Amino acid sequence: MPGLLATMHDDHARLDALIERLLDPVQANDPGGLVRVWGDFEHGLAAHLEAEEQCLLPGFERVDTAEAASIRSDHAKLRRLVAEVGAGIELQIVREHTVRQLVHFLRSHAVMEEQTLHRWADLRAPAQAKAAVVERLAEALHVRRRATDSRPDAPASGDSR
Ligand SMILES: [Fe+2]
Ligand SMILES: [Fe+2]
Repeated sequence: MPGLLATMHDDHARLDALIERLLDPVQANDPGGLVRVWGDFEHGLAAHLEAEEQCLLPGFERVDTAEAASIRSDHAKLRRLVAEVGAGIELQIVREHTVRQLVHFLRSHAVMEEQTLHRWADLRAPAQAKAAVVERLAEALHVRRRATDSRPDAPASGDSR
């Protein structure tokens, strides 16, 4: 099983690559593709935030209350931006500016968190909590892949991931 730091970094990179694809003009002219990419991103980000909040933050809060509160506040802002972009995509009025805001905020959150929460968790969190995060992210990815692969409109190449 991969380590916590590598798993979280890889998941940040995977989410970053997905959201970046929303800015691709080719993708923008393909509403179906846009919705698929957005679905992968939204599902992946929700699982990522929940895993951090439920498995890592309770322990981190006891050693750095202010930093943990800042991470929770970032997560709340991320969810607001996700709701805004999601509504825009659904109504086909998504603005590039809003997507860029989400990309930049997610990026800066990931950089900060890898130096704080994840570094602490890698060294100090109970092995059970670390294993739970890694398992939850793998399970979320697996569930999403199964759901998208079983759809009648699933791309044969599986290039939505
Ligand atoms: Fe986070
Ligand atoms: Fe994260």
